[in-house]
Amino acid sequence: MPLPAPDPLFSLQDKRVIITGAGGSIGSLVAEAMADRGAVVGLQDISAEKVDVVRDRIESTGGRAITLVSDLSTAEGAHTMVTDAAERLGGLDVLINGAGVNRRKPILDVTSDDFDAIVAVNMRAVYFACQAAHPLMKEAGGGAIVNLSSLSARFSFNTISVYAATKAAVSSMTRSCAREWAADGIRVNCIEPSVIMTEFTKPLWGEAHRQRWFDETTPIGRLALPEEVIGSIIFLSTQASSYITGQSIVIDGGILSGADWDSYKDD
Ligand SMILES: NC(=O)c1ccc[n+]([C@@H]2O[C@H](COP(=O)([O-])OP(=O)(O)OC[C@H]3O[C@@H](n4cnc5c(N)ncnc54)[C@H](O)[C@@H]3O)[C@@H](O)[C@H]2O)c1
Repeated sequence: MPLPAPDPLFSLQDKRVIITGAGGSIGSLVAEAMADRGAVVGLQDISAEKVDVVRDRIESTGGRAITLVSDLSTAEGAHTMVTDAAERLGGLDVLINGAGVNRRKPILDVTSDDFDAIVAVNMRAVYFACQAAHPLMKEAGGGAIVNLSSLSARFSFNTISVYAATKAAVSSMTRSCAREWAADGIRVNCIEPSVIMTEFTKPLWGEAHRQRWFDETTPIGRLALPEEVIGSIIFLSTQASSYITGQSIVIDGGILSGADWDSYKDD
């Protein structure tokens, strides 16, 4: 059955999209939402098994998707992947950088192998995927890049020092790319979510005391579900955000809005 036509502001009809980490919790939902809006979606991930499932789900509802299985942690991985993928897709209009890794440890326990492993996927791959996307999007007359940064880019927690640094770099690279490429019609933005309830962060929210910290510190009063970040990614990828570039959308249930000093009042 044909899907209902989406609102033109949020349409991705016939847009050629690459989503890295498309087998993951957030990436797979973004991929399905984009296919629903008419995009032909390149599903990139290191796990063939995961992206095969996403492709099958998309195709079962009449959407279009191809799988792109590769390791983005290698020096050339991201650049080669984007170039090869665009050849298969017939060009490139939208890039979503969603692949990410973490090794949670106190700073004093972090090894140079930990450091390199996190930087390779979270930072270097994003940088070179963007670099490879530029000429393809310019040729297409413009495009949109959305990077998955994190609230930790500006609000850190213990045990995530390297991850937080890479996400701060992603937010910074987002602004640099936006600045250099606006004249080419390429918009570059990112989202900075707090902890979203996915497998990736289960070691955090799965612990009762951490879940309680989030519930009590987040003005909205709970952690976010993965579905709750999709709208912002669609928004930043479509005409709906045509005059927005170089921005970070913080998705934190209000954590950065401030604090309630009256909660310290003695009754
Ligand atoms: N879940 C959260 O709370 C949260 C919060 C803020 C930001 N983020 C960011 O959002 C993104 C997605 O998070 P998620 O929760 O869906 O995580 P996830 O682990 O479910 O998805 C990440 C995907 O990246 C893939 N990947 C890992 N290493 C790779 C490599 N070398 N090459 C190719 N693919 C590789 C994994 O196979 C996985 O499918 C990440 O960048 C993460 O840092 C997540």
